[in-house]
Amino acid sequence: MFLPGGLRGSADGTVVKRTEITTPEVLPDERGSERSLRPKRLSEFIGQERLKESLHIAIEAATARREPLDHILFHGPPGLGKTTLAMLLAREMGVNFATTSGPVLEKPADLVGALTNLREGDILFIDEIHRLRPVIEEFLYPAMEDFRIEVRLSEGPRAQTMTMAVESFTLVGATTRFGLLTAPMRARFGIIERLDFYPARDLAVIVGRSAEVLGVEATAAGARELATRARGTPRVANRLLRRVRDFAEVRAEGVLEADVVRRALELLNVDEHGLDAMDKRILVTVIDKFEGGPVGLNSLAVALGEDAGTIEEVYEPFLIRQGLIMRGPRGRVATAEAYRRCGRPVPEGEGASGTAPAGKQPDLFGRARDGERDPR
Ligand SMILES: Nc1ncnc2c1ncn2[C@@H]1O[C@H](COP(=O)(O)OP(=O)(O)OP(=O)(O)O)[C@@H](O)[C@H]1O
Ligand SMILES: [Mg+2]
Repeated sequence: MFLPGGLRGSADGTVVKRTEITTPEVLPDERGSERSLRPKRLSEFIGQERLKESLHIAIEAATARREPLDHILFHGPPGLGKTTLAMLLAREMGVNFATTSGPVLEKPADLVGALTNLREGDILFIDEIHRLRPVIEEFLYPAMEDFRIEVRLSEGPRAQTMTMAVESFTLVGATTRFGLLTAPMRARFGIIERLDFYPARDLAVIVGRSAEVLGVEATAAGARELATRARGTPRVANRLLRRVRDFAEVRAEGVLEADVVRRALELLNVDEHGLDAMDKRILVTVIDKFEGGPVGLNSLAVALGEDAGTIEEVYEPFLIRQGLIMRGPRGRVATAEAYRRCGRPVPEGEGASGTAPAGKQPDLFGRARDGERDPR
């Protein structure tokens, strides 16, 4: 059962621009290959051990009690496996999987069909759940809590409504913007799990598995080389793999050795840490135009000619993870390491760790927690 899907974009509807090769967002021509590379069982889902363990426990407990799974929310940056996990859950539980997404649902009626078609234990997956309209959210609350929905029988202020029962289903939500989810919505999920960037070691295993699926020969060193440049993101790792394969076929007899991977990625403009042209532009802007910060998100967005939400959602998490940018109450600050990577002299007063805000007193800038609203 499939509901209409929508094109991906940032929260305000603008299309995400970035060097395509390293964007964590899915590209239009990739949907087919994504499908073929998706793990089919939870045991094939690599890394995120703690999260997998808690899902295993939830699955076993629900199965033993012969009850549906609790409602589950996955959040975290794009391309880390939220959709994949939702599909795996359905397969592990042996239930049907229906999918829709926040922005395509206009009115409660758009969900009635899907909800009434669900059988006990089935999974309804709502992608980009932070983009649900308030009327839809309110329609969903009783469905999630008491498995009943209020259906309007006609239009207008005095329209009659009818209460209908739905089977006890499991709602699985996914979002890249946990901070934008309303509190009542959050409160209705029994399990809330965050996906984090993958260490290179796990990405190398993912590359190895994908290479096998694609029928490409990759050496262990080649897979590692590719993994370190994949920005902690399986989707990027798989994309780099496909592009490097093309290079290897044309220039290097098809085998992905470390040196072949290095040459191919150099040609594609991906540096040894996975930074691309846009990442560098952000760092250079913070350093050169704003003296290393702190700079508010909106000022930075204007200077870059880029949408603030996109910077925050798509570019920044990786830069923060790499210790190149810090988020504090007064805005973004470039770290000493960022100055070094950009070939700029590090200002005095640099913190010993190399990831403290360059030239600034570290205690002025607390680290922002995930989901926290940022200074604009
Ligand atoms: N742990 C993993 N092991 C193996 N492959 C993975 C893993 N996580 C993700 N992938 C691969 O990465 C691709 C992207 O994953 P997925 O579509 O689930 O990301 P997502 O978090 O839903 O992203 P988005 O926020 O853009 O919707 C999938 O095709 C899948 O093959
Ligand atoms: Mg997804």
